[in-house]
Amino acid sequence: MSESKQTEPGKAKILVVDDEPAITVALAKRLRRDGYECVTAGSGDEALIRFSTDNLDLVITDIRMPGMSGIELLKEIKRRDADIQVIMMTAYADIDFAIEALRYKADDYLLKPFNLTELSHCVGKALEHRRLLCESRAYQAATREVSPEGLLSVERHYRQGMAALAAAIESRDRQTAGHLERVAHYALAMGAELGLAAEKRRNLWLGAVLHDVGMVAVPETVINKPGPLTPEEWRLVREHPLMGSRIVQGIPCLEPAHPGILHHHERWDGSGYPAGLEGDEISLEGCVLAVADAFAAMLSERPYRKALSEAHALDEVKRSAGNRFERRVVRAFLAAHEKGFPAEGLEFEIPDPLAKKG
Ligand SMILES: [Fe+2]
Repeated sequence: MSESKQTEPGKAKILVVDDEPAITVALAKRLRRDGYECVTAGSGDEALIRFSTDNLDLVITDIRMPGMSGIELLKEIKRRDADIQVIMMTAYADIDFAIEALRYKADDYLLKPFNLTELSHCVGKALEHRRLLCESRAYQAATREVSPEGLLSVERHYRQGMAALAAAIESRDRQTAGHLERVAHYALAMGAELGLAAEKRRNLWLGAVLHDVGMVAVPETVINKPGPLTPEEWRLVREHPLMGSRIVQGIPCLEPAHPGILHHHERWDGSGYPAGLEGDEISLEGCVLAVADAFAAMLSERPYRKALSEAHALDEVKRSAGNRFERRVVRAFLAAHEKGFPAEGLEFEIPDPLAKKG
């Protein structure tokens, strides 16, 4: 695999490929207005020339073009740089081609006709994914050459950086200031009640901090929407555990957070998401975070309901033992609650993204 080239943050460079000039012009105009650098090509051959001369982060290409097709272009680009993001554009009648493109590692597709807001959202998501991939590669390169002590320090800084990113993502939700911190404290205290070893508790805490990192893929307008979500918006929200698990995969010091992130919305009776797992199929980390996350959410106001009182939220947790939540985990939660959720073993505080520096 070739080494990825990372563009300076905020100046991502995008190539739009389509044999219809009216489309490349309209898309390029919107992308420049969104603050990106944008270049265009009228064919697959021209796109490959651009690819070898320009430092690109993302390619948006039509599938059906005279000469080299969008799928052939996708394969060639991914062969040269597996981390570059590629979004395919296609008409609904050709959706089979879009599905085929996903098999060849296309990162997303846009069904024509799409509006420019959909384009901006899809591009933002792809570039965020690219940024995280580049960070992951940089981390792997940095840890190849350092001493064990240096590695611990790099890992600690990396986890701290991810915690800052998670807090920044959380701050997009106007109703849940401090939610991450509360979930992390509850989880840490529950881990102690469950008799977990120090390292397991630290991993649980990390999972709690990062449990909603996949919400980066959900637009702020959806997160703060006062009314009911449309089926498409709901689908996006339900994907966040999967998206979050992909973000930490392949980064050794973050991987212990993976089971908690992936399973925190699964339910003991099988009615949760994203996979509808049941009983012991759900990791212990997922079971703990499910209770901690739900309790913290019940205590905060949501766009669609008022905050519950602590007594009411506690009753709700007790009532859910054996159906929504695992009984043993609920017992650990109630015991930790009795003790005021002690936070022993905290590695570092979660940074406040809104705090003034200096
Ligand atoms: Fe979540």
